[in-house]
Amino acid sequence: MFRSTHFFFLLSICSVFSFLDLTIRCPNGRQALHTFDVTTLSFSVQCSTPGQSCRERMGLCNEHHLCCPRTLKMSSKPYLYDRASNLKFVRIGNDYKDFYRLFEIDLLMNSKRSYDYHSRWLFFDETLRDLFEMPKARFWLPIIQCFQNHGLSYAFVPKNATSVTSNVSAMTILTRKNDSFDSIYICYMATRKEHRRQGLATRLLQHIVQRSLNERENGVQYITLHVNTMNTAALELYERCGWRCEMFLPGYLNYDPHHATNHAYLLKLRLNGVKNITSLCRDRYAVDIEPSDDEQSVRNCNRQPVY
Ligand SMILES: *[C@@H]1O[C@H](CO)[C@@H](O)[C@H](O)[C@H]1NC(C)=O
Ligand SMILES: *[C@@H]1O[C@H](CO)[C@@H](O)[C@H](O)[C@H]1NC(C)=O
Ligand SMILES: *[C@@H]1O[C@H](CO)[C@@H](O)[C@H](O)[C@H]1NC(C)=O
Ligand SMILES: *[C@@H]1O[C@H](CO)[C@@H](O)[C@H](O)[C@H]1NC(C)=O
Repeated sequence: MFRSTHFFFLLSICSVFSFLDLTIRCPNGRQALHTFDVTTLSFSVQCSTPGQSCRERMGLCNEHHLCCPRTLKMSSKPYLYDRASNLKFVRIGNDYKDFYRLFEIDLLMNSKRSYDYHSRWLFFDETLRDLFEMPKARFWLPIIQCFQNHGLSYAFVPKNATSVTSNVSAMTILTRKNDSFDSIYICYMATRKEHRRQGLATRLLQHIVQRSLNERENGVQYITLHVNTMNTAALELYERCGWRCEMFLPGYLNYDPHHATNHAYLLKLRLNGVKNITSLCRDRYAVDIEPSDDEQSVRNCNRQPVY
């Protein structure tokens, strides 16, 4: 399945990046390392350092997919460290349903090895492609932009997973946007297909709200996000959790193959309305909603909130 999508991907991209050889075959299961230069906005790709072995996953390495997952032994240690990307997975909170472990992904920005810097974006890029089931999408630039301003990421990984980097069940990436220092902004939130309907997104949202409440002394008052106007499941989840639609933004999303429109709603949660984190998303009284926010949702977005 991935091979054929690669094929189409390469067909469409080569006309733009024809000067780049995007497909390379790494010998001995070595990993393709991707370099994205933020200043020149150019990609390059090379195989991992000899001796840095890993088992082959796809056989074919190209700029779009790792050829093998980077494995990490799960243990009771408080954190896991992935040498390939220089990402540190710090365990936080208790396991959810005695099965999912919650990690905060620490970016350890002071790496001396230049490829570390790029392979960490690869981790997020590939994980989002997997979770969103968008094998053709590229998340590099928005991810880098998201992390530039105090980016933060949380991920759920099954307890018995053999690898952290290829077994993320749900992930979110947050930022503090430059143009609105009063808000935490949710850049991405996604759950892998096989792990949906278990409350992972709800749990992540509870965590995000808790974390944002701790930022109130630094001026954070809201949590905002954009959602496709046709993504009813997500809209209803956010509304149940206390978000309200503030604005309709036609054409805001330039590429979203899951829905027939590229229109978005801007949703906002007022942190001063949050009464009870444990019952957030499960109990309508967990957040006090201002009546004017409900009215605004109807007026600006033509949406009667779920509750
Ligand atoms: C992990 O646990 C789940 C649920 O108990 C099980 O279905 C799955 O096969 C396990 N996976 C591995 C790799 O052991
Ligand atoms: C972890 O990911 C690998 C590679 O995608 C997969 O084969 C394996 O079943 C996953 N394990 C769990 C526990 O999800
Ligand atoms: C965002 O703010 C940071 C810190 O003040 C600044 O370095 C950066 O240039 C700003 N980015 C944009 C896009 O304005
Ligand atoms: C918050 O909600 C939980 C679960 O519904 C409940 O057990 C708890 O008493 C509530 N806490 C407060 C302070 O109301």
